[in-house]
Amino acid sequence: VLRAVMFDLDGVITDTARLHFKAWKRLTDEQGWSFDEKLNENLKGISRIGSLEIILNYNKVSLTPEKKHLFAERKNSYYNELLVDLGPQDILPGIQELLMELGKKGVKRMIASASKNALRIINQLQLGPIPGPYFEGIVDPDSVTCGKPDPELFLQASERANVDPRDCIGIEDAQAGIDAIKAAGMIAIGVGQGLKHADKTIHDTRELSYSFLEKVFERY
Ligand code: BG6
Ligand code: MG
Repeated sequence: VLRAVMFDLDGVITDTARLHFKAWKRLTDEQGWSFDEKLNENLKGISRIGSLEIILNYNKVSLTPEKKHLFAERKNSYYNELLVDLGPQDILPGIQELLMELGKKGVKRMIASASKNALRIINQLQLGPIPGPYFEGIVDPDSVTCGKPDPELFLQASERANVDPRDCIGIEDAQAGIDAIKAAGMIAIGVGQGLKHADKTIHDTRELSYSFLEKVFERY
C-alpha cells in the first residue's frame, strides 16, 4: 500500500527551477560563459557545485576548488536575492490540497531535495515547520554523499519515514530525480515533458490528488 510520498522541491512544490536558471544566467553572463535553457535542463536536481561543474565543462573552463567554491557561493547569493519575494502564492497549483489530503489519509509526506535552501523555501511558502502540518520530514542534503541520480536521497527519505521504498511514490521534474526514484525502487511520477522512465508523467501539478496517486501506485 501507499505509505509515503517523496516530494522534490524545486519544480514540483514551487517553480524555483526558473530562478535557479536566472541566477546561473547572471553569473555566466558576467563571466562570458555560455549557458542556455537547454544546458539548464541538465542542472535540474543536481547539487550547486555539481551544476557549476557541468557549466564549466561545457565551457571548457577549469578552475581550482577554491574558485569553484567562490562562484558557487556567488550564484547562491544571486539566487537568494530572487527568493526574497517568494511566498504562499508561489506554491504550484494543487500541491497544498494534495499535501492536506495525504495527511488526512495518513500517508507520510517527505521532502527529498538536493537544495540547501529547501528549509528557507518551505518556510517562505508557509509550508513549515517540518515536522508540521504539511510534512513529516526532510532529508538534509549535506548528509548525502551521492546526489541524484543516485538513490541515496530517496532512500534516506524512506528510512526517515520508516517506510519501505516499495510503499513510496516519488514526484520529480528532473531526469536525474526520476532515475534516483527508480533506482530506490519507488514508483516515479514525472512533472513536465521529455522525462524518460517515469511510471506516469503529468503536465500540470493540478493532476495530482490522493486518488490519482493511489491509481498509479496500484497499477505498478
Ligand atoms: C535542486 C535544483 O533542487 O537543488 C538544482 O533542481 C539545484 O537546480 C540544487 O542546483 C541545489 O540547490 P541549492 O539551493 O542548494 O543551490
Ligand atoms: Mg526539481
